[in-house]
Amino acid sequence: MIAEPNGSLPTEPAEIKACCAAGYQSDVVALILGESYHPGGAALTRRLAGAVGVTDGCEVLDVASGPGSTAMLLAREFRASVLGVDLGEGAVAQANRRAADAGVAGRGTALVRFEVGDAERLPLPDASVDVVVSECALCTFPDKLAAAAEMARVVRRGGRIGITDVVLDPDRLDPELADLAGWVACLADARPVEGYQAIFSSAGLETMSVERHDQALGDMIDMIDARITALAMAKSTALADVDLASLRRRVAVARRAVADGVAGYALMVARRP
Ligand SMILES: C[S@@+](CC[C@H](N)C(=O)[O-])C[C@H]1O[C@@H](n2cnc3c(N)ncnc32)[C@H](O)[C@@H]1O
Repeated sequence: MIAEPNGSLPTEPAEIKACCAAGYQSDVVALILGESYHPGGAALTRRLAGAVGVTDGCEVLDVASGPGSTAMLLAREFRASVLGVDLGEGAVAQANRRAADAGVAGRGTALVRFEVGDAERLPLPDASVDVVVSECALCTFPDKLAAAAEMARVVRRGGRIGITDVVLDPDRLDPELADLAGWVACLADARPVEGYQAIFSSAGLETMSVERHDQALGDMIDMIDARITALAMAKSTALADVDLASLRRRVAVARRAVADGVAGYALMVARRP
């Protein structure tokens, strides 16, 4: 949800992906976001798990698993067997360490492991998992259709794909958020609900349900604002390379986008027929 790379959008998708993965591995992002890098936190992950039907022994893929909180929750509370895939090597190493510390590392029921991989080319065989989840991540993938097609490829027939993600009216997005930093912060290339539904449909998936959780995005922006203020007051060295004025301006613009109904958050479930 937040990072501070400067400059206009690079044209190479690989550059955008690398920048996004690097941004989410930085210390300042960990300090500001805590253990969960998506709006709604654990409560929304539980709701997602219910909506896609994660149950005991279910084999789940978490695409763009970040710090691993979603995958670990699904293993601990729903006794799922979860593989998390993320482009960031550091994020994967850290998530594996967290799983080991929590006693849930490994393969099998109620266990979780993390691997490096690109959402647009998943390192899994066809029809190899029961459920795919992905939180606050599809919005950051340059080739969203490729990522959705990969989710459709790896899930078994009848299996569900559940995402929680930023939804946006791109025509009303403040230009201040339409650059690389805005992209990494999940805003510049987020889509309206209908846009995600069209992507699912093109990937051969049927949308089953859509729930709005816009307040979760507003709450997360408030939390980010409060943590930035606390770090600034403590003169934290984590902010040494951060343009604080620019970051605060972006947070204010993002808050306005939510208040104006330009940006929100949604839980969407699709199914592979
Ligand atoms: C906003 S964070 C969400 C992380 C996690 N899903 C969560 O909710 O806590 C976005 C994540 O997407 C990952 N990411 C970005 N592009 C990716 C790609 N092409 N393939 C896999 N992971 C990617 C980043 O490294 C980052 O961990």
